[in-house]
Amino acid sequence: MEELDLGEVSVRRASQADADALAAIDVPPDAVTAERRSGFRLWCGQGDVFMAETPSGPLGFCVLDYSFFEHGFITRLYVARDVRGKGIGTGLLAVTSGSCVTPKLFTSARLSNHAMQRLLQRVGWRPVGMLDGLNDEDGELELFYLCPPRHTPKKATEPRRRRPAGDAGLPERPRGLR
Ligand SMILES: CC(C)(COP(=O)(O)OP(=O)(O)OC[C@H]1O[C@@H](n2cnc3c(N)ncnc32)[C@H](O)[C@@H]1OP(=O)(O)O)[C@@H](O)C(=O)NCCC(=O)NCCS
Repeated sequence: MEELDLGEVSVRRASQADADALAAIDVPPDAVTAERRSGFRLWCGQGDVFMAETPSGPLGFCVLDYSFFEHGFITRLYVARDVRGKGIGTGLLAVTSGSCVTPKLFTSARLSNHAMQRLLQRVGWRPVGMLDGLNDEDGELELFYLCPPRHTPKKATEPRRRRPAGDAGLPERPRGLR
């Protein structure tokens, strides 16, 4: 599943042309630094990013890579503040999870990030451990989650852009999206 049409909001893989707009979501113009833009250009260029959008522009993004012991890892999930609580995060997570080519897919959230943890647990992700020593600023624990079993493409070694389309094991359509 490479795209998901949720009515007004759609989710698709981002291209490099989307990078600057994604880097600017919820960020004041002077805080969209060259470093931030180049990070988004790199992820988008590698095909690591899915984005949610309406015809008016991007609403959020999800970044998946394979640098965590060669398992899929969702490193970022972000939805613009003024459109949270409408199912966009759930939709982004579903499409991104469905695109993962490894049997195991992990993510993590700070212990205090209840919104992310509720979302993950609602769609069946399982807490699998806590890590101390990651968040130097405040010493907060990081909680790791494992995605529930889902359809895995037959050839896990196939280049990511060429994975077969198919049932991504999507959960029920998020409520409220038209
Ligand atoms: C965590 C985050 C991605 C969630 O995104 P979201 O779009 O608000 O997520 P959803 O709308 O799918 O789900 C949020 C809640 O809205 C509810 N919801 C979804 N659609 C709804 C609707 N139409 N009407 C009412 N509630 C709805 C969900 O049931 C869920 O409820 P819960 O909080 O009790 O679980 C978002 O809060 C965010 O970007 N946070 C900052 C970044 C972050 O912390 N990322 C995670 C670590 S990388």
